[in-house]
Amino acid sequence: MNNKKCYITTPIYYPNAKPHVGTLYSTLIADVVARWHRLMGEDVRFVTGTDEHGQKIQEKAESLGLAPQAFVDSIVPAFKDMWNKYEISFDTFIRTTDTAHEQAVTAWIKKLQEQGDIYKSTYSGWYCVPCETFVNVGSDPIKNEQGQYLCPTCNRSLKEIEEESYFFRLSAYEDKLLKFYEEHPDFVTPRERLHEVVAFVKAGLKDLSISRKTVSWGIPFPGDPSHTVYVWADALNNYLSAVGYGQTSPEAQAEFAKWWPADVQVMAKDIVRFHAIYWPAFLMAAGLPLPKKLLVHGYVLTGQQKMSKSLGNAYDPGQLAEWYGVEQVRYYLMRQIPISQDGHFDLKDLEERINADLANNLGNLLNRTLTLALNNGLSTVNSPATYEATSAALRERCEEAYRLYWEEMNKGYFHIGLAGLWQFISEVNAYFHAQQPWVLAKKNPELFAEVIAAVCHSLNAIATMLWPIMPSKMTSLLASLGKRLELGTNYEPILRENAWTQSFTLTKQDEPLFVRPETHVLVEEQPVAPVSAPAQPAVPEIGIEDFAKVQLVVGTILSCEPVKGSEKLYKLQVDLGKLGMRQILSGVAQRLKPEDLIGKQEVFVANLKPRKMMGLESHGMMLLADNGEYLRPIVVDGKIDNGSTVK
Ligand code: MSP
Repeated sequence: MNNKKCYITTPIYYPNAKPHVGTLYSTLIADVVARWHRLMGEDVRFVTGTDEHGQKIQEKAESLGLAPQAFVDSIVPAFKDMWNKYEISFDTFIRTTDTAHEQAVTAWIKKLQEQGDIYKSTYSGWYCVPCETFVNVGSDPIKNEQGQYLCPTCNRSLKEIEEESYFFRLSAYEDKLLKFYEEHPDFVTPRERLHEVVAFVKAGLKDLSISRKTVSWGIPFPGDPSHTVYVWADALNNYLSAVGYGQTSPEAQAEFAKWWPADVQVMAKDIVRFHAIYWPAFLMAAGLPLPKKLLVHGYVLTGQQKMSKSLGNAYDPGQLAEWYGVEQVRYYLMRQIPISQDGHFDLKDLEERINADLANNLGNLLNRTLTLALNNGLSTVNSPATYEATSAALRERCEEAYRLYWEEMNKGYFHIGLAGLWQFISEVNAYFHAQQPWVLAKKNPELFAEVIAAVCHSLNAIATMLWPIMPSKMTSLLASLGKRLELGTNYEPILRENAWTQSFTLTKQDEPLFVRPETHVLVEEQPVAPVSAPAQPAVPEIGIEDFAKVQLVVGTILSCEPVKGSEKLYKLQVDLGKLGMRQILSGVAQRLKPEDLIGKQEVFVANLKPRKMMGLESHGMMLLADNGEYLRPIVVDGKIDNGSTVK
């Protein structure tokens, strides 16, 4: 047992619709983190739940002719059931309609009132009901064709409101927040997301409206029940109330002292502002320590759009579980989608991963090893005193694979950790083939037993490392080696020291660990506009002096994201070496995926005049090869310094 505690949270979801693959993704990340820490023998508390108050829920319930409480009560079980189906190992499911939560919010607001952090005024401006956010439309508002203002986060129409409201003195926390970010550069992971937060705070914070007079479905505002608490001020407090805040009993106080502050708070980029600005300011005001880390991920996309119930493009995780199996979907989401970027959810990729990674690479390795060993009478596998050179090399690789995996999992870069682990699995397969154990079984039984022992040790380490991702499958893999995970044990030193001295009792599997999936189609593929070959315009000849006016430079594409409100544009952040970082917009979103570009070294026109598109500045241009049918990045082969001139 390791004496550390670890408190992990997910966002609490609006129960205005059932969970979908997007919300599953966040919850799954938190589950993997929770299980990862449990694997290290830590004392883990994992909280998820539902955010049940506010205008959005009130309106949805009204539209169905239901009381809001009855409406949320009808949806919440779908969340609990789905999380249970997906083996989400939450310890607490919090609902913001729980009495203890309402008491915590009331206690928190009273504290702020006492110290003068709250005052009454009037809010007049714009509000996004789907996001439950007050929106500052600014000088460059996004509008639809009818001229209505749109929300910069979800692109839906904003409502104009003017109403009396209680305000929280957020502006008073500007300097304290900036100091905190400076002293805690890893507060937000990945770090680039913190830069956006810092820029937002530096631009100046306005006081925050924290009550609604025109919304009745909420917690009554302490001292003025004609208002309800603004839903975000209510919801953020769930992280406190879930572990006992606001309760007077000694048990609750001890519970709170044990778990707070949170260690890892998982969320997508849409709600970073609430968690990295408002939330720390609320905590500072309440005199409480701040969370240690916000782990922020990108969106799961369908086509080019964020997967969301309201856009009608969301996959039902229940259907996917039925077709492919829960843990296959868990693996795919963690392996395929880079945490720091948006990622495409695609059934073909999912099927391909199950076939290649799970059924072929891992499943077959286990199956072949067990069959060969048991068919040759080897059911108890003991480790040799010393290993032959090739097995010793595999053992070193096993150790190294663990170190790399450990590092990436700790950073939250699960997809990189898994890619590295699969590299190791391929190497174990290659070792197995190179040793030809089916020949050794007859010719050299001692070496045969050693090879089987080496593969069993590798599989044992692999299954332990993969347990947070595929808990049931890895439990049965371990069982077929005669092993069982003992939760409460700290597996970190065990994996690190990698002794390879264990013995294994092999059992035949009743059924293969992974089966090849059938092909399924969920929704009609979005028709992609046919790309007609551009007519070749007559291009006039130029002299070398004309060409010399164009500054071509090598750069690395660090990130690539779709631009909100545009189907065509990507926003790239490009490292141009000595020319610095550049934001470059490129109109290729319908023809290239972000992963075609991210991490690639490319050629850019560096001296193009900056210009604005969709309110964003683009400074430079990316060169691409276009044959009318397909587009390809002009990838620079090999490592060239960013900023090198192309002549
Ligand atoms: N209720 C607020 C959160 C309050 S937390 C104190 C809320 N709820 S939500 O139901 O809209 O969920 C938002 C969260 O769901 C995102 O931050 C993200 O964690 C997850 N996701 C929803 N759709 C998603 C994708 N398509 N992709 C990735 N995450 C997704 O905001």
